[in-house]
Amino acid sequence: MSTTLGNLSTETRAFAPPPELTAQANVTAAAYDEAAPDAPAFWARQAERLTWVRKWDQVLDWSNPPFAKWFVGGELNIAYNCVDRHVEAGRGEKVAIHWEGEPGDSRTITYADLLRSVSQAANTLTELGVTAGDRVAVYLPMIPEAVVAMLACARIGAPHSVVFGGYSVEALATRIQDAGAKVVITADGGYRRGSPSALKPTVDDAVARCPSVERVLVVRRTGEDVAWGEKDLWWHETVEQASDQHEPQAFDSEHPLFILYTSGTTGRPKGILHTTGGYLTQVSYTHWSVFDLKVDTDVHWCAADIGWITGHSHLVYGPLSNGATQVMYEGTPDTPHHGRFWEIVDKYRVSILYTAPTLIRTMMKWGDDVPAGYDLSSLRILGSVGEPINPEAWMWYRKHIGHDNAPVVDTWWQTETGGMMISPLPGVTATKPGSAMTPLPGITADVVDDAAESVPNGGGFLVLRGPWPAMLRTIWGDDKRFIDTYWSRFGAGAGAGDEWIYFTGDGAKRDEDGALWLLGRVDDIMVVSGHNISTTEVESALVSHPVVAEAAVVGAADPITGQAIAAFVIARSNVDTTGRAGEELTIDLRNHVAKTLGPIAKPRVVFVAELPKTRSGKIMRRLLKDVAENRTLGDVSTLLDSTVMDLIKAGYGTPAGSDVSAIRRSTAP
Ligand code: PRX
Repeated sequence: MSTTLGNLSTETRAFAPPPELTAQANVTAAAYDEAAPDAPAFWARQAERLTWVRKWDQVLDWSNPPFAKWFVGGELNIAYNCVDRHVEAGRGEKVAIHWEGEPGDSRTITYADLLRSVSQAANTLTELGVTAGDRVAVYLPMIPEAVVAMLACARIGAPHSVVFGGYSVEALATRIQDAGAKVVITADGGYRRGSPSALKPTVDDAVARCPSVERVLVVRRTGEDVAWGEKDLWWHETVEQASDQHEPQAFDSEHPLFILYTSGTTGRPKGILHTTGGYLTQVSYTHWSVFDLKVDTDVHWCAADIGWITGHSHLVYGPLSNGATQVMYEGTPDTPHHGRFWEIVDKYRVSILYTAPTLIRTMMKWGDDVPAGYDLSSLRILGSVGEPINPEAWMWYRKHIGHDNAPVVDTWWQTETGGMMISPLPGVTATKPGSAMTPLPGITADVVDDAAESVPNGGGFLVLRGPWPAMLRTIWGDDKRFIDTYWSRFGAGAGAGDEWIYFTGDGAKRDEDGALWLLGRVDDIMVVSGHNISTTEVESALVSHPVVAEAAVVGAADPITGQAIAAFVIARSNVDTTGRAGEELTIDLRNHVAKTLGPIAKPRVVFVAELPKTRSGKIMRRLLKDVAENRTLGDVSTLLDSTVMDLIKAGYGTPAGSDVSAIRRSTAP
């Protein structure tokens, strides 16, 4: 990758933290200096946040890289750390979860309530024969029982494998089989977009193919009729009848805590394995430091699904280990109206909001007047995760949601990293819109060229140097794939040097101040007339035009330039993209990109009503590339809505500026 990558755009805006936040911040700039000379010693100090039954003998064992062991010899119980100890400290009546169902029902769960439920579920799982080391699959909607189930598994040392409730039979069965799960915890269904959406039939079909499953525990959420088999047990007839007394047992710091499957762009899903002490140390510390969590006054809301790593680390283990109060919401942001999120923020006086760029861009598309209708003054920190956030989306988030004052923390990390890795600290960092800024204290990230040499200023590959506490320990059952996927691109794993270097798969650039700008997956990077151009930069240039809400860019094979840039653009509501107006807009957008990034980056523009996204909201550029190159579509099974592709194909075939109103109408949310 040449150094031209990512040097096209420049961003000069920066926002200092609000002085009142800095004055009371949990973490100051000193943290970087404390961590720099000795990262393991820094993490050992953070591990003191947790309650250990037996203290570790050794902080880090990196004698057999890339297999790390953290807090060797230490013992603790994760559920005790997330629940019991807060109750013992006299905070049993503090709200742990304000749960909001999609139809408008709600539940308030205190730490004392959570302790009773987790103990009951732990007793039930034990009665069903689940012992430490057995795997339990969790396939639930966003209801409190999902949190209870995960904590109950952790309490008895049974690794959970949470499978996103929107996945199909095939995806669920593959994951149950790979982990060899003994029990599946599910529900009759959940609510989505205003109606009940069944889950149990999917589980029935999957379990029929998975002989390892002995029992299926079913939560009643919708009350709809379900087929009942020999393995099935109702949650309310078992868990809710069980004893609410349960003695937690301590587990080794390296005891497996969970497997979480990540599908990536190709191939079999990878079962990312996380363990106990190191994982909890890093997520607890990063939740507290990056969100500047004030346990007594903040109300935290992570809007990610519990089936993703963000939900694991910032809806379950991070906030609960810190004793936080949080909101959990079952449904979609547009049900029953576009203001639902802001209504929830207003209702619970949410002060920390954590969501994804895809949601922010959707909100931009819906219009500024939607959030303006609610009181969002309680918000003091805004988080973003999951994709590069375009500078204009960042600015919109700060201005329209954060009343031009709340810091935006763009947090870069992965399922594999377990915890946040690159992010501003809200009381310390002057943030630049669109940049994740610098590695957190105790973390070393770098931008390198092909030969693993650091690129001090410019674009390259994002790598992580040195082990970190919440890192994945392996791919479940496949150490070789673990090494091949992450460690064999650079350094010792590639047969060069002594250092083991973790390759993230992402491109990034480092600016003259040392701030990091994420450029998307390296597989997506385009080569136009010999220059590497990142899709992220062209997308951000498009989103900086006032009519654009969202854009996805791909490189399509071109006989002259190598690759030609094709842009699929969603306009903001009320913008006319038809006929003459559309043609003029197209020209305008091409010129706008040329002005922002240079004429080499000028894309072909086509207006669309929707973009193909994975169920976690990431744009599937691979499919857009198929359209742009006029090929048969590849695998669409991980798409949220596969009909979107037919409409995009139809739209791409028509000349720029032609009438796409039919497409728009048929996919309106
Ligand atoms: O490409 C990066 C992108 O999401 C990938 C990790 O995806 P996943 O394992 O699903 O975890 C997402 C939630 C932690 C990364 O390799 N990504 C994540 N956060 C950011 C990001 N890209 C740019 N900026 C971010 N803040």
